[in-house]
Amino acid sequence: MSILDTIVWRVDASNPDPAVLAEAGQMIRRGRLVAFPTETVYGLGANALDVEAVEALFAAKGRPRDNPLILHLAAAEDLFPYVREVPPLATKLMGAFWPGPLTLVFFGTGRLPAVVTGGLGTIAARVPAHPVALGIIRAAGVPVVAPSANLSGRPSPTTAAHVLADLRGRIDAVVDGGPTPLGIESTVLDLTGKVPRVLRRGAVSSSEIADVAGVMPEEAPEAAEKDFRCRLRVPLILVEGEAQAVVEKIRSLYTAFAAEGKRVGILTREERAGDYPGQVVPCGREGDTRSVGACLYAALRQLETVADVILAEGLPAEAGAALQRRLRQAASEVVRAEREP
Ligand code: TXA
Ligand code: MG
Repeated sequence: MSILDTIVWRVDASNPDPAVLAEAGQMIRRGRLVAFPTETVYGLGANALDVEAVEALFAAKGRPRDNPLILHLAAAEDLFPYVREVPPLATKLMGAFWPGPLTLVFFGTGRLPAVVTGGLGTIAARVPAHPVALGIIRAAGVPVVAPSANLSGRPSPTTAAHVLADLRGRIDAVVDGGPTPLGIESTVLDLTGKVPRVLRRGAVSSSEIADVAGVMPEEAPEAAEKDFRCRLRVPLILVEGEAQAVVEKIRSLYTAFAAEGKRVGILTREERAGDYPGQVVPCGREGDTRSVGACLYAALRQLETVADVILAEGLPAEAGAALQRRLRQAASEVVRAEREP
């Protein structure tokens, strides 16, 4: 790879410097790779019309070629050249959720290079709700593909530091707009079948989609979900079950690992941060899904740097399938905590 170092620009997320957005956009237009924040996670932007740039993007991430990319647009009308039709349901959903964390899959017109779509014939697209992302895409003046800006298989980045940890020296620049507000990826909804189908659970829940669509979307089974397991550097044991039993189980696992001389990291919620020994990382508040989503990936990345093994509290069903699933995908082992009789 010929890139020597990665430029870092810092901007105010709500009022970004137009000069930085213009320069970042121009770089993308010219075929460079620039990471930027969206409302979900950081994306790695490339010019969707430039085959070489998109190929360089796959190489920088180490991403399998058959995993297609999401088109990021500055406005809904920029979609029309690339999709065969916009069904009425799509118009409704775009009106309700764009700009925002819902990615929609359409039949494509074939105007985008096949490398973008994995040769699928369909196009996934969204309009991100973040001033930095929107400003850069507008300045680029081309459709921008933006996969999460991590090495393939690693947790999605929610800060510029995460991007640099994975991709420094492999990409041209990162625009640092601080932590991303939602912290988990967009929901991917396929509109090419009879019934809308969730291909990847994410920041918009199926019931929020149903409220607008008037029908509950189908959900792809876990194994078919279009994302890969996220690989942490250390094992993560996920402990699920009734709250008090989980605390007891984690404390006993802690004792066993500590006796082997292992550094133990514990992922919990703020309410229980004081209940554990070891390297405790509280993430979010009980019953507040959004607060958990905002820090989940950051907490996992922090824990893997300070611990040899991570013990994580399971998330209750109320936290939603999107978050539960992400934590399960990060786990090397899931254990059930049972109450002592
Ligand atoms: O929130 C997000 O969506 C972030 C930010 C940066 O916008 N992007 C993101 O991109 O998560 P990526 O590439 O990491 O994940 C894209 C997902 C993959 O699961 C991919 O398989 C799916 O979208 N996808 C893309 N194009 C598709 C298509 N034509 N049909 C079905 N799935 C598609
Ligand atoms: Mg990704």
